Amino acid sequence: MQRDHNHPTIVTIEKVIDETPTVRTLIFSDEVMSEALPGQFAMVWIPGVNELPMSIMISKEPGKAAFTVRKHGLASTGLFNVKEGEQIGIRGPYGNSFDLKEGKLLFVGGGTGLVPMMRLLTFVRPRDDVTVLIGAKTKNEVFFEDLAKSLLEEHHHHHVIVSTDDGSYGEKGFVTDVVEKLLSKTHFDGVYTCGPEIMMYKTVQSANSRHIFVQASLERMMKCGVGICGSCCVGTDLACRDGTVFDGLHLSKNKEFGYFHRNKAGILEHY
Ligand code: FES
Repeated sequence: MQRDHNHPTIVTIEKVIDETPTVRTLIFSDEVMSEALPGQFAMVWIPGVNELPMSIMISKEPGKAAFTVRKHGLASTGLFNVKEGEQIGIRGPYGNSFDLKEGKLLFVGGGTGLVPMMRLLTFVRPRDDVTVLIGAKTKNEVFFEDLAKSLLEEHHHHHVIVSTDDGSYGEKGFVTDVVEKLLSKTHFDGVYTCGPEIMMYKTVQSANSRHIFVQASLERMMKCGVGICGSCCVGTDLACRDGTVFDGLHLSKNKEFGYFHRNKAGILEHY
């Protein structure tokens, strides 16, 4: 029987990995989600808690997928606390995906924004020259560094650079300063980013100012996930249907990107 993507499918969490004290990866078997495109998301239902949008994480094992969640609000803490053997509901995948260029590529991720970056890395070609930038506030919030390295093992030209705001690991400073430094030195054919909005905003600005192709995957309050409720709007765009991935040039004309998002009640809030 054909699966209805808008109807929750129940899956069992098979394994939980602690990435940092506040971030966990929950692995489950699901063919459809295992083949999601980078940038796509699922709506995840935690019984008795709520539903929340989650970018779909890769798994090394075929036919499996995962969610990497930071405990933050009620729903994300609910998902963070799901144990091995427990069940959740998933619908999707929803949204568009990145347009991967060839050549010299830069990936900029912060926090759980690294999830779509990791999936995108599985699509780069061995001859591409790949740089991955991982930004974190401090050392114990760094994760996926080893994963990024292992995904790029076969690439002759690859660099994985970590920067921490407090300098406790890797380069010291904001990841966007590293972006600016790299883009001012070398030409890149494509820049891809996902993470805190201010990080994406600055990355998009750095690339746009040099006419470099750049895309960002936006996070917004999502309720329906399918373009009906309007809770995820960014200006006149809907993050769930028109995104989550947008081109930098398009974003540079959007007055809300980098400045506002909407809360649960749909009210604009400043970043
Ligand atoms: S989440 Fe409802 S329109 Fe996007």
